[in-house]
Parts: sequence; structure tokens; C-alpha cells
Amino acid sequence: MYDFQTNADAPKSVLYDDLLSAARALVADEPDTIANMANIAALMWQFLPGLNWAGFYRVVDGGLILGPFMGKPACIRIAMDQGVCGAAATSGETHCVGDVHAFPGHIACDGDTLSELVVPVFAGQGADRHVVAVIDLDSPLTARFDGDDAKGIERLAQLMEACFSA
Ligand code: SME
Repeated sequence: MYDFQTNADAPKSVLYDDLLSAARALVADEPDTIANMANIAALMWQFLPGLNWAGFYRVVDGGLILGPFMGKPACIRIAMDQGVCGAAATSGETHCVGDVHAFPGHIACDGDTLSELVVPVFAGQGADRHVVAVIDLDSPLTARFDGDDAKGIERLAQLMEACFSA
């Protein structure tokens, strides 16, 4: 039913434009947050080459809990002061880590992971604005992610904001 065409050889700008259009089509008119996270995880997995994990951690009761993802089973709970995910959720800033072994406190859910991109998802307005989840992408390649990936996934995180505010 959803047959999105991908071209891993396309420039990243095109790749992310295509990914964003597909994501918009998938979440439009669907208020269920889990269904939307699941489809977006599948979409990242389909569109982005060189990944070994793609998915979400949700902020629940002051910690992070595993959300929908693609890849091997992963750590279920991550404290806010742990790992790249915790650092991104706590600071509200994108973390692009070229070598996870050089990141103090990195959590090795999958020993194959060498680099990682984590982008916070916000919801709420004004003083109520806060991080509700993070998008986590892992790769078995060193320095797999660059500024274009960060920008692309930040656009996706912005789109997801509506899913968490619904
Ligand atoms: N790599 C993350 C932990 C989650 S798994 O990689 C899926 C981290 O250090 O935050």
C-alpha cells in the first residue's frame, strides 16, 4: 500500500526531501503516536543507507524508555545522564558522534555501532516546551553522519512534534 521509492545514491538533500515527503504522507491525519513512531522508524531504515539501528526513545517519568525501532533488540531504559541519548534529551541538542568509543558513557546496545546521531523531539509551546523523545540512528561505519544528516533528521523531529502534541 505504501510503496515509497528510495535512491541511496541521490544527494543527501534529495534523500531527506523524499524522506520528509513520505513521512508527511504517513503521519497525516493519524493521531496515534506509537503508530506514527513505528512508521517513521521503518521509513528511516528504508531510506537511509549504512544503519544498524533506527528508532525512538521516549521521555517517561524523568527517564528514557525504548520506543518503536528497526534493528536488533536494544536497551529498554536509559537514565537521562547516560549515553548519547541521555545527553541529547537532557540538553535538547542534536548529538552527532563520529566515534562512539570516544564518547564518555556511550551505551553499547550493539557492539557493531561505531557512530551515532541523536536528535531531540520537542512538544508544547512557550514555557511548556520540552523534550518528549529522541530519534536515535546508529551505524556500523565510523563518522557515518554529518551536518546534512543532522539537519534532515531535525526536520523529521519537527514533523514528529505534531504527533506528540496531538
Ligand atoms: N547508543 C545509545 C543507546 C541506545 S542504542 O544504541 C539503541 C546511547 O549511547 O545513548
